[in-house]
Amino acid sequence: AASAQPMRSAALRGRAASLTGNPFLAEGCLHHIEDALILIEGGRIAAFGPYADTIGRVPEGVPVTEYANALILPGLIDTHVHYPQLQMIASYGEQLLAWLDKYTFPAELEFADQAHAERVAKLFFREILGAGTTTAAVYCTVHPGSVEAFFAESERFNTRMVAGKVLMDRNAPAALLDTAQRGYDESRALIARWHGRGRQLYAVTPRFAPSCTQAQLDAAGALLAEHDGLFLQTHLYETTDEVAWVMDLFPDRASYLDVYARAGLVGPRSVFGHAIHVGEDDLCTCHQAGAALAHCPTSNGFLGSGLFRLFDAQDPRRPVRVGLGTDVGAGTTLSLLKTLGDAYKVAALQGTKLDALRAFWLATLGGAEALRLDDRIGRIAPGYEADLCVLDLAATPLLGFRTGTCRDIEELLFVLMILGDHRTVRATWVAGECVYDNRRTGDPLRY
Ligand code: GUN
Ligand code: ZN
Repeated sequence: AASAQPMRSAALRGRAASLTGNPFLAEGCLHHIEDALILIEGGRIAAFGPYADTIGRVPEGVPVTEYANALILPGLIDTHVHYPQLQMIASYGEQLLAWLDKYTFPAELEFADQAHAERVAKLFFREILGAGTTTAAVYCTVHPGSVEAFFAESERFNTRMVAGKVLMDRNAPAALLDTAQRGYDESRALIARWHGRGRQLYAVTPRFAPSCTQAQLDAAGALLAEHDGLFLQTHLYETTDEVAWVMDLFPDRASYLDVYARAGLVGPRSVFGHAIHVGEDDLCTCHQAGAALAHCPTSNGFLGSGLFRLFDAQDPRRPVRVGLGTDVGAGTTLSLLKTLGDAYKVAALQGTKLDALRAFWLATLGGAEALRLDDRIGRIAPGYEADLCVLDLAATPLLGFRTGTCRDIEELLFVLMILGDHRTVRATWVAGECVYDNRRTGDPLRY
């Protein structure tokens, strides 16, 4: 296993780009080096600079991996995804609430079987690492074993992951429900076992307000109050039917977000999926609390949920943290490149333009900021954890033809976010180890 090996040194050579700040709020946020060297020591980036200036720092015996006609980026960050839903991705014809009943809950019921959970966790890591994703905020199922299977697989690759057991104590099949007390107890045990073990981090994960009683939301709040550094992830304002149901279930609350706020669930490590139908007051609350939203464009399009107002969320008068989410299985891909292509179209449908710098910020440093991990991941910079993805500028004949005409890095990034997918990913590095290489014959993760 990768984690059992000593942390070796490594060096990568190639064109590289990394965001240094939020381009929604400031200019000049791109660090781009045409011929860069990235030196890695002990799983972290030790140096990042022009090859000619940096090669002298590479210790003798450390191999330099050269990536020609490629672009090295920070590993991509998926701030909202359900690994148990790989089995029912691409399920036809329903909107959120019927889709949950008809497809999602039956698929999640199968995670009572531990062998099934382990198989799907393995497939999930194969898929995300092959897509250049190195960190994700992940929903497991109500079964503690689904979390065990997930973190055990993550530990094999030494990926930095945020995940948790789903809490749900009403409005789903009985075999998929816990209780407020049982959900609390099981979460506590998982937190003790996994939170802060290696690179693994725990997220308290109430599914969404309609599947949780007030007692369960309060228990989630108690967990957050009892432990430092825990995350909170749930769904918020995804569809109009869902919002109406929430206001029916919690008639005393001022808004959907208020349901969570009154249980102590709105804080700096909270990540709310979707937030399509969110209003100004709740955006202000998120800004003040430092809570984050996950923009899930392929899911929002697939379920017909609506258009997330990215530029509204990023209003410099009260910017709200935003990351990018695939939201598989409502989302239609685990590729964050493809997800950026959809994010561009969602912006276009609102008469706005999602440029490549803002887009790649969302998929890297913005995601890291949303998860409060921006001091460790999301950038290529000294001290940062060495999670990288390498894109092949000629992965397909068309991509090679098109990127050959790009005049600058912004045009190149834009072409990659519109045309890129799994095939575009040449290699993925996690904590200084190459965990995926699409030319390495016999690579267990190879396509
Ligand atoms: N709301 C509650 N559960 C889910 C889920 O699994 N997927 C999506 N997209 N929305 C949800
Ligand atoms: Zn979701």
